[in-house]
Amino acid sequence: MNILITGGAGFIGSHVVRHFVNTYPSYHIYNLDKLTYAGNLQNLKTIENAANYTFLKGDILDEQFLMAVFIKYKFDGVIHLAAESHVDRSITDPLSFVKTNVLGTVNLLNVAKNTWQSDFSNKRFYHISTDEVYGSLGETGLFTETTAYDPNSPYSASKASSDHFVRAYGETYQLPFVISNCSNNYGPNHFPEKLIPLFINNIINNKALPVYGDGNYTRDWLYVIDHAIAIDLVFHKGKNKATYNIGGFNEWKNIDLVKLLCQLMDKKLGRTQGSSEKLITYVKDRPGHDLRYAIDANKIRTELGWTPTVTFEQGLAKTIDWYFDNQDWLDNVISKEYLNYYQKQYNL
Ligand code: NAD
Ligand code: TYD
Repeated sequence: MNILITGGAGFIGSHVVRHFVNTYPSYHIYNLDKLTYAGNLQNLKTIENAANYTFLKGDILDEQFLMAVFIKYKFDGVIHLAAESHVDRSITDPLSFVKTNVLGTVNLLNVAKNTWQSDFSNKRFYHISTDEVYGSLGETGLFTETTAYDPNSPYSASKASSDHFVRAYGETYQLPFVISNCSNNYGPNHFPEKLIPLFINNIINNKALPVYGDGNYTRDWLYVIDHAIAIDLVFHKGKNKATYNIGGFNEWKNIDLVKLLCQLMDKKLGRTQGSSEKLITYVKDRPGHDLRYAIDANKIRTELGWTPTVTFEQGLAKTIDWYFDNQDWLDNVISKEYLNYYQKQYNL
């Protein structure tokens, strides 16, 4: 099987690429990535020379390029992760989210449809989406696969739109597809603009920890490798035209999570307990901030036998250890672009 994975140099994509390259030596994995600020080939060092792996630098908006690689490499399946992924950036620059997440996905769907047209058998287009398309929950309830879409941020609106296009290509052109909507991931290689890696990095450097609003927002956290395992299952065993929700059964209020992180980091750094908590700084809230996300992952559990393998305690410990052991990775990704973004976003 020849599999195209888009966005494979990013956070989740790099774990998915590594998982497929190592688990399926008989497949050839093609990783197509534009290498935006969020893409980093250092994430793939351990498999870059594998015989069943090829990196293709390119943009999902570039139709000619996509046509050429689809014809040359005869992909049997696509696992589409390439996207602009950060909510705060979508608030300052919504259009780039429309371009990559909506137009880029439609471009990819078109090229898949046009090059596979003669034969859709044994083909599959798998779109990796987010629970954020469902909008915000109140204090109770869970997102299921039938929850109505109700996105609130330009990021989630762009992902919702791309999900709709994938489904439309399935209905209109019979393009075989599957979609999964996952909760917040965390783990190694996570770009330090998202909550957990940002705060790990700031604690190491004794910088303020900017908590939005009152910190009483809730997210459901999943270790990234458990997401990669779920993606493998959905790709191979998921039903055509189905959606699967993926989550960690692991809800945390931001402020509780930040306090836990501070305790673990104090221990790791040999600092007095309570010193990192002093860095917590309440800042202006994110506009349109979704109160709570929580996933009902029972469909993938009962239908495909998936369940998270890593507890939050284990996952956070592994994540913290990784950032300590990979300070050079952090130094490399903290580029001029990152510093400009940081200054504009936080002014701290
Ligand atoms: P990321 O920002 O870390 O990585 C995105 C990757 O896509 C980068 O390598 C980037 O270079 C590449 N890319 C961006 N624009 C491109 C383009 N035009 N052409 C080709 N490549 C391009 O994102 P992530 O956190 O790894 O998320 C991956 C996918 O999973 C996204 O589709 C996201 O919506 C979804 N998702 C993320 C989470 C999460 O918690 N991070 C949760 C659920 C779903
Ligand atoms: P984030 O990691 O950006 O993921 P998402 O917005 O996709 O859920 O944010 C997780 C939560 O943490 C979210 O409620 C916003 C909050 N947050 C802060 O309080 N401060 C920050 O600096 C960041 C980046 C996020």
